[in-house]
Amino acid sequence: MQLSEIYEPIQEDLVKVEEWLKITSKVEFHRLSELLGYSLEDGGKRIRPGLTLLSGKLYSYDISSLLPMAAAVELMHTSTLVHDDAIDNSSVRRSRPTINKMWGEDKAVLLGDYMFAKAGELATETQNLQVVKLFSQTLMIISSGQLVESFDAFNPEQTREHYLERISSKTASLFSLATESGAVLSQAPEEAVKVLKEYGYNLGIAFQVVDDILDFIGSEEEMGKPIGSDLAQGTLTLPAMLLLERYPQDNPVKRLFQDRSKQENIKLAIESVRNSSIIPDCYKLASDYCATACHNLEQLPDKPTRQTLIELAHYIVRRKR
Ligand code: IPE
Ligand code: IPE
Ligand code: MG
Ligand code: MG
Repeated sequence: MQLSEIYEPIQEDLVKVEEWLKITSKVEFHRLSELLGYSLEDGGKRIRPGLTLLSGKLYSYDISSLLPMAAAVELMHTSTLVHDDAIDNSSVRRSRPTINKMWGEDKAVLLGDYMFAKAGELATETQNLQVVKLFSQTLMIISSGQLVESFDAFNPEQTREHYLERISSKTASLFSLATESGAVLSQAPEEAVKVLKEYGYNLGIAFQVVDDILDFIGSEEEMGKPIGSDLAQGTLTLPAMLLLERYPQDNPVKRLFQDRSKQENIKLAIESVRNSSIIPDCYKLASDYCATACHNLEQLPDKPTRQTLIELAHYIVRRKR
């Protein structure tokens, strides 16, 4: 199933989320308006706002709070990407030059800050203090996850637990905010809020594992961003970790982490990963998280949206972008 088919039940409201984002970009200061418009234009998959709306669909769907919240999670996501690209000195995102490439790192830092704050303001439109608090806590968790990643760059001594903790902070936290807030804002019973939060969390882990796989085997054209950038940044993701485990003696990842100027090792590591059973093993882990996510949903009302959430989980594992 294509993403557009999966989004079908919320398509109209996703268009409204786009309108909220467009309005967000319209500010008097035209240079800021230009940067916001550039960052928020179509091009992203809009998975997080999709999750907020779909989670809301299972209970008492109220667009007056779900729309600003969905826009807030997408805005928070976009600001983390703007900062992430500046940190990584990355030049391409969503098939276009990044903000840091176009306008410089300083503008990327400030634009990211502005968008975080704007996202917070949108979250307050829900008038729901619980959700606003979750929103702020999520931002704290993402930032600390990104900090851990930065401190651990080029450190080969990381365990799978480290990896899971890191991706849980930097990615799964926002997925679970998206689903939990959707559930809270649609008056879901406490048990269901918990189930949807867990679903988002497991989906987020699967999503990042697949992103990390695609950094080895994906196509830059489809992904709209560079491949091999995790190793270039010294980020030890699951495929690289498994390569280190399997070939502890002579290993391109080890050589790269010992001497980061030896960039030829990136290509060698990618080749070694591709020529091993590492990729299917990583996909197995992503599928397991996806299965856990779907399994939990069985406790929720048997509405068509529940099936849509299952389709979305499957899409996340087989996606190419
Ligand atoms: C990219 O997220 C950042 C990660 C958490 C891996 P997406 O792949 O959802 O990015 P867009 O919004 O579709 O560009
Ligand atoms: C991004 O993870 C996590 C964020 C919270 C921004 P990645 O570093 O893997 O994202 P991409 O690959 O640059 O999109
Ligand atoms: Mg990155
Ligand atoms: Mg990545």
